[in-house]
Amino acid sequence: MTGADDLARRRLRLGMVGGGEGAYIGGIHRFATRLDNAFELVAGAFDVRPERGHAFAESIFIARDRSYDDYRAMVEGEKNRPDRIDAVAICTPNHTHFPIAKAFLEAGFDVICEKPMTTTLDDAIALHDLAEASSRFVGVTYTYCGYPLIHHARAMVARGDLGAIRVVQVEYPLEWMATAIEAEGNAQAAWRTDPKLSGRGGSIGDIGTHAYHLAGFVTGLKAQSLSADLATFVPGRLLDDNAHVMIRYDGGARGLLWSSQVAIGCSNGLRLRVFGDKGSLAWAQEDPNTLSYTPLGGAPETIKRGREDLVPAAKVRSRTPPGHPEGYIAAFANLYAGFAEAIRARREARAPSEIGCNVPTSADGLKGVAFVDAVVDSHEAGGHWLVPRFV
Ligand code: NAI
Repeated sequence: MTGADDLARRRLRLGMVGGGEGAYIGGIHRFATRLDNAFELVAGAFDVRPERGHAFAESIFIARDRSYDDYRAMVEGEKNRPDRIDAVAICTPNHTHFPIAKAFLEAGFDVICEKPMTTTLDDAIALHDLAEASSRFVGVTYTYCGYPLIHHARAMVARGDLGAIRVVQVEYPLEWMATAIEAEGNAQAAWRTDPKLSGRGGSIGDIGTHAYHLAGFVTGLKAQSLSADLATFVPGRLLDDNAHVMIRYDGGARGLLWSSQVAIGCSNGLRLRVFGDKGSLAWAQEDPNTLSYTPLGGAPETIKRGREDLVPAAKVRSRTPPGHPEGYIAAFANLYAGFAEAIRARREARAPSEIGCNVPTSADGLKGVAFVDAVVDSHEAGGHWLVPRFV
């Protein structure tokens, strides 16, 4: 295992599982790792079909002896190398997250795992317990808490600018699955609509978990109970493609969460509004460089990313002056910068600097899976109010 002294003089070495040719999120991870020069990608098992994986590895200049047939071979091949990877990024469909994360954790690697962290609550509990019992870091890529203004919004709520929170409205509508594209050869839609590969949630697991995490991250509120109504609008589809969830938060605030894969006209319409007894906040991911704040009886104020008076947690995640658009890739890179700092701090037995604080971990992954579980249970029970097992 590489010591802290060596770590201070080099980038973290990253391996990737999934994310091969034609895959979606693996490419975003690769962009994100490069922005801050904190990681170098040196190994991978990039595709479920090994030959395609090797061809892809070659195309991005991964050494042939570090392109592996599968994740098991990667664990074996990496674990005894003097230049072994520090962490693995898991960019595969949901059902594979648990066995892959478990194998790398047990071999002593740090893990960066896509959401939802697992497909079952039992697996999420087991993985979180394993992470806690190890000295390793497990990050979960809840992308949207990488945005600077999300950190500013969180700080505004915490310092009381909105007063007591009354209402939380969060929505994540998409249109891309408005027809049965899973039956027409769309591989990404195919696994997302297969309960064995996706888990119990359709839209609620895929994007509802993002919305739920974002609402909790900004408000600091914990769900006390929820009531859900799921729908499957596309005939033949096996999982929900639309979800409405009412949430009662601790302290009496009420939340409403909408996730949809059939919302025609919506590209990536993640939007959060928070209303307190002194003011309100509104933010939308398609315009992430502005945050709207309205005090009771006052005019709306547009808060811009990059402004000097933002809180340190927002400033450290902002790269360019206000007016230059920063977006999704930069937010994802902020997550990776945070993971790098969290990993280094842990190895060096020190507290992380600002960028490494409040990064999403296996605890958040577990809450996300518990949310999906409670939503599906509530729906199946006719919308009964249920308490998520982990909040
Ligand atoms: P995808 O279908 O585009 O790509 C999956 C990739 O994993 C493919 O390259 C496939 O060959 C590979 N793969 C599958 N099984 C494998 C295995 N056992 N070993 C090695 N490689 C394997 O999927 P997509 O859309 O990139 O989603 C992947 C994960 O990322 C999912 O868990 C999804 O929920 C999550 N995701 C997260 C987003 C975020 O904003 N954080 C956005 C989109 C997806």
